[in-house]
Amino acid sequence: MSKRFLSVLLFATLAVSANFPFKANFGTSPAPFSIDVDPSFIEETRVKASLARIATDLVQHVPQDGPPAENITAIKDYWANNYNWNETQKRLNDHLPQFTTTIDGAGNYSHPIPLHFVHRQSSRKDAIPLLFVHGYPGSIIEVERVIDGFTNPPSNETAFHVVAPSLPGFGFSPAPEYPGLGLRESGQAFHKLMLQLGYNKYIVHGGDLGSHTVRYMAIDQPESVRALHTNLWYQVPNQQDMDNFNAKNSTAEEAFLINVLATFRLTFLGQRQVFENEPLQWAYAQTDSPVGCAAWILTELKGGSPSYDWTLDEIISWTMLLYIQGPFGSARMYKELSDKTHGLASLTTFTSQWASLNLPSKALSRLPEDWARRQGNIVWFNHYSSGGHFASWDSPTELVADAREFIKPGTAAWDAYQK
Ligand SMILES: *[C@@H]1O[C@H](CO)[C@@H](O)[C@H](O)[C@H]1NC(C)=O
Ligand SMILES: *[C@@H]1O[C@H](CO)[C@@H](O)[C@H](O)[C@H]1NC(C)=O
Ligand SMILES: *[C@@H]1O[C@H](CO)[C@@H](O)[C@H](O)[C@H]1NC(C)=O
Ligand SMILES: *[C@@H]1O[C@H](CO)[C@@H](O)[C@H](O)[C@H]1NC(C)=O
Ligand SMILES: *[C@@H]1O[C@H](CO)[C@@H](O)[C@H](O)[C@H]1NC(C)=O
Repeated sequence: MSKRFLSVLLFATLAVSANFPFKANFGTSPAPFSIDVDPSFIEETRVKASLARIATDLVQHVPQDGPPAENITAIKDYWANNYNWNETQKRLNDHLPQFTTTIDGAGNYSHPIPLHFVHRQSSRKDAIPLLFVHGYPGSIIEVERVIDGFTNPPSNETAFHVVAPSLPGFGFSPAPEYPGLGLRESGQAFHKLMLQLGYNKYIVHGGDLGSHTVRYMAIDQPESVRALHTNLWYQVPNQQDMDNFNAKNSTAEEAFLINVLATFRLTFLGQRQVFENEPLQWAYAQTDSPVGCAAWILTELKGGSPSYDWTLDEIISWTMLLYIQGPFGSARMYKELSDKTHGLASLTTFTSQWASLNLPSKALSRLPEDWARRQGNIVWFNHYSSGGHFASWDSPTELVADAREFIKPGTAAWDAYQK
């Protein structure tokens, strides 16, 4: 038995003995998986939610202090009395065919990487494989509203086979046990997953952390990643842009983005820095308090898609997908992302790929087209008048339509895929 195979076996045993409250078996090739969370864990979580002690807010609420206490009390009450995990679990299992496998290391990360993923093939012979990567605080839930449109389109529109993995530490992909597995390595593992599934050329879509992941993939696997579609493009203004801004010589679009980034730094950067500095310290309370965890996630969801009407059911279900295995791994991904050698700082320009941007105009992700062109071969660029950061959830129809237009006979992306 090879050493690597042995370590995979050991890991499979570890994954079970690590005491996750869900049934999972990570073998060396794709095997079917259904979400099956221990009912006693679900009941214990409900009881914890019902006993949550809510912080006392100021009489005059200050938004930047955190979400209003009354909203968190509403989450607590709903969780204690109305929330039904069984329905969410059944809906996800019925709608999303899921699998597990193990990848034998990626890039500089030499340990086995157990992965959970959604895979649904289109019945169309001409369907194009599409790797969909979720973000934070997301999970495979993000693919739920677009998977039908991708796999089962009208007969004259482009069809896709969809593969949507859980990033390590999110949903049912166990968090790494060693440092060094960041988004770049996750992308390398996802490429190996695509090869396990027999897809040696494919297109990618991602938003939020998923957009960074698929960009790494386009850089690292230019032969296989034939086109990239995204609703977020990380691109900070350069010195000339800032000089222009300070000299009031920016376009309205440039000034908009620079102002949004400045607001982001004031309101959200603290959250990021907790993850980058002391994610474990943060995780002790978050692992033990479902309502506290939901309060954190609520802020992310509301901040990203403020005009979307997030229901209590949605907030709790998105929380559960991180809370069930524990939110440490998902938070710690940001620490890897801040690493100088393989984090955001290592994103380089790629020119051989076809990139598309689909940016809802009100979202943080709005970007002037010529700035975007500095880092990629943009062949398709759209601004939408509505929608938010979680595009596959708040604007699923527009997202699917945009992807179909981006890659259809006659487009540059189509030609890049077919060749
Ligand atoms: C709190 O609840 C109110 C009333 O439902 C809602 O309008 C507001 O957006 C919520 N705020 C947050 C941060 O969730
Ligand atoms: C959910 O399903 C489990 C196992 O089937 C069951 O024990 C539990 O009572 C169910 N909970 C609810 C709220 O229906
Ligand atoms: C491994 O790390 C080195 C040094 O940081 C880097 O140059 C190299 O690209 C990495 N390899 C992969 C496959 O990520
Ligand atoms: C497919 O057909 C619909 C309805 O006739 C039409 O609106 C749409 O533009 C067509 N799509 C393509 C790619 O030709
Ligand atoms: C104004 O911005 C343009 C575009 O970046 C630049 O070429 C030009 O030098 C700037 N003019 C001044 C006065 O800064």
